[in-house]
Amino acid sequence: TLAPLDSTKLTIEHTTTPKPKLAKEDLVFGKYFTDHMLEIEWTASSGWSTPKITPYHNLSLDPSTIVFHYAFELFEGMKAYRDSNGDIRTFRGDKNMIRMNKSAERIALPTFDGEELLKCIDKFLLVDRDFVPEGNGYSLYLRPTMIGTTASLGVGVPDKALLYVIASPVGPYYSSGFKPVSLEATDYAVRAWPGGVGDKKLGANYAPCVKPQLEAASRGYAQNLWLFGEEGYITEVGTMNVFFVFKNQDGKRELVTAPLDGTILEGVTRDSILELAKDRLDSAEWTISERKYTIGEVEERANKGELVEAFGAGTAAIVSPIKSIGFRDGRNIEVPVALGNSGELTSQVAEWIRKIQYGEESYKNWSRV
Ligand code: COI
Repeated sequence: TLAPLDSTKLTIEHTTTPKPKLAKEDLVFGKYFTDHMLEIEWTASSGWSTPKITPYHNLSLDPSTIVFHYAFELFEGMKAYRDSNGDIRTFRGDKNMIRMNKSAERIALPTFDGEELLKCIDKFLLVDRDFVPEGNGYSLYLRPTMIGTTASLGVGVPDKALLYVIASPVGPYYSSGFKPVSLEATDYAVRAWPGGVGDKKLGANYAPCVKPQLEAASRGYAQNLWLFGEEGYITEVGTMNVFFVFKNQDGKRELVTAPLDGTILEGVTRDSILELAKDRLDSAEWTISERKYTIGEVEERANKGELVEAFGAGTAAIVSPIKSIGFRDGRNIEVPVALGNSGELTSQVAEWIRKIQYGEESYKNWSRV
C-alpha cells in the first residue's frame, strides 16, 4: 500500500552553521534563503516518505533527470507574516494546496493531502521563525515546489518525485509606496490558450514569458499586458492577474477581471479581492464582474472618461497599480492614478488584504497562526 503524506512522521535536523540575518533594507526578492528546507520524497512503489526538515542544501540529481528535459516542475507562492504579537501567520495556504494538487495532477506528478503539507510548513516556519521579518510589507515568501526525479530520457510518467519547500525573507515590492507601472498591450506573444495549462502553476508557463517582457522593456514598458485572440481579450499582466474599474452608464462602478476559463491562473490574491469586494463594496454602487473584456473596450471607455483605475494582483506584490497601456503602433491608454500613485479601490483592497495578512483583522479562516 502507498503511504500518504504524513506530517506526524516529520523529522528535524537543525543547522550547525546558522546564517547571519540580512538587514531589512538588503532583502531582494528570492535571493536569500532561510537556514532550513522541507523535503518529502515520493516513489510510485511506496508513496510519500518521511517529511524532513534539514539544513538548506544543494540537490544532487542525475543529468538525465526528467525535470531537466521535459519540465516536470510546478510551484506555489505563499507568504508568512509576523503579527503584532510576534506570532507567525500564513495567508490562505489551503488555496495554494488545492492549486498545487491541480498542477501536480495535470503533469502526472503525485497528489497529496494539502493539510498535511501545511502542517509540515507550520513546523518549518517554527524552525526558521527568526527569518520572518516584521513590519508592513515584510514577509517570508514560501516556495513549495515539486519536481519529477526519475533519471530517464523516456517521456512518461515519473516514478519518483521530490516535493520541497524553501523560504525567502522579502521586503515591500515597492520600497516607497506604490509605483504605478506602464504596460505593453502584447498581441505578438500569447501566455496561455484554451485547452492549455495557463491555469496551472507550472514552471513551463514562466520561461517563455521572459523574452516578451524584455521586448516590452526595450520599448520602455515595465510589463506585458497579455491579450488573447483576434478580439484582444485581456487575460493577465506579467505574472499577475489583472483588474479594471469602469464607470458604467447607470452610474455604478464595475470591478472587472477575466473569468477562470482555463487561461487564467487561479490567483489567491485575485480570489481574495473578488470575495472582499463582493462582501464590502456597496452593491447599490458597485458591480463585481468576472467576465471577458477586451483591450478595445478599455480603450473606448478610457476615451469616454469611463476608465477609473487598473491594477495587477498577485502574492508577490499583492496589488500593483497600472498607469498606462501602450500599443506597438504608438497608441496609448492613460489610466488615472489619483491617490498616492494608485486608484482609490486599488489602495482600499491592498489595505483590506494587509490587515488580514498581518492579523490586525480576522476574516473567515484566511489567516492561520
Ligand atoms: C506573483 O505572486 O505574482 C507571482 O506569480 C510571482 C512569482 C512568479 C515570482
